[in-house]
Amino acid sequence: MRAILAALAAIGFSDAAFAEAVYVTAARAIDPGSGRVIDNAAVIVSDGRIAAIGARTSTPAPAGAEAIDLGARTLMPGLIDMHTHLSGPATKGRGYDGLQYAGERNVVWGVVHARKTLDAGFTTVRNVGSGGYDMLAVRDAINEGEIPGPRMFVAGPPIGIVGGHCSDRNYLPHDAERVGEGVATGPWEMREKVRRNVKFGVDLIKTCSTGGVFSKGTLLGAPQSTVEELEAIVDEAHMRGLKVASHAHGTVGIKNAIRAGVDTIEHASFLDDEAIAMAKRAGVYLSMDIYNTEFTLAEGEALGVPEESLAKEREVGSVQRESFRKAVAAGAKVIFGTDAAIYPHGDNAKQFAVMVRFGMTPMQAMTAATDLAAEALGRKDDLGCLRVGCAADMIAVGGDPRSDITVLETVDFVMKAGDTAKRP
Ligand code: ARG
Repeated sequence: MRAILAALAAIGFSDAAFAEAVYVTAARAIDPGSGRVIDNAAVIVSDGRIAAIGARTSTPAPAGAEAIDLGARTLMPGLIDMHTHLSGPATKGRGYDGLQYAGERNVVWGVVHARKTLDAGFTTVRNVGSGGYDMLAVRDAINEGEIPGPRMFVAGPPIGIVGGHCSDRNYLPHDAERVGEGVATGPWEMREKVRRNVKFGVDLIKTCSTGGVFSKGTLLGAPQSTVEELEAIVDEAHMRGLKVASHAHGTVGIKNAIRAGVDTIEHASFLDDEAIAMAKRAGVYLSMDIYNTEFTLAEGEALGVPEESLAKEREVGSVQRESFRKAVAAGAKVIFGTDAAIYPHGDNAKQFAVMVRFGMTPMQAMTAATDLAAEALGRKDDLGCLRVGCAADMIAVGGDPRSDITVLETVDFVMKAGDTAKRP
């Protein structure tokens, strides 16, 4: 039967080609990347991709298609969060509390958080680090249809220096020390860690070029890894076709990572004009998690976040938001990354309102989580778009996000690669 349909399709029998199509209609459709808005929109989905999109009048339903009418809702591409850790719960395991959980527990959390994230309208995420290779198993189970979840681009163990933010085992004293899987010294060891991650199937490389908020004994402003070490990581990763994300709060570490050739800077908190200019010139994307602050400062203490981390959050929060404003005003490529795990998975979209508060238009904020994020993944015109040929990753929200960005916090229709994951 399939062969006959394919043959008919090949000679132009479009009804046959669309025999298993889905016909989705809504009050409007927004494609943030092109800026195109279609009123009374219709989308034809076939084989997991967008086969046609246009006004309902000019895009009739193919014979035999399953119809999904979303009424007064707005249709958008599925959202992309460029910075998550699906293995980490926001409300457990902070500071020393985390030491009681074995690694296996991360897999369970990953499964739970994958579903929450997809239900919230995020059809794609980057998982930028966990202790081991656990989230690759979650990714593969999602891809094989065993559990629901977003498309995952997984980094595996982050690569970094002894005692650094990316080793993150600093809570234990020296005689109980556990060394993180990605801890390395010098360019050759760094290269070996990249090779090992490639061997086990990661999709990107994560490193750290400064200290962080949630690692013990690290300083936000202090660079980590030499430029030589960072260059080795980038060279090795790019040679194998993988992109590199570098965690960096402090200005020097941000610039070191850009000089070394990384693809995205995570957090990018202390940006000066030169750092912004360097990022623009190199085409480096800035993934700035500017929602976290509220959650950590409101809930952190009760959840057991150590005072050291709370103090660092107080130091970085407002500075990072002003950096965000400057970067957006300067026209840098700012993408949507939340660091969900610091705050609850499923609340990812709460960051949109903060992005608009600190200088983005609603359309820019939507582009940061769709078209621009897809570009940073190397998947432009495939993910994060409502155009013919794009993957049929779609969400619907009540109201119009151009006038009220917070409607993105309540997603009641989710489709991933043509499969409906959530219906109104
Ligand atoms: N994972 C990051 C760190 O530990 C989280 C930073 C959160 N705070 C912020 N203002 N972005 O450094």
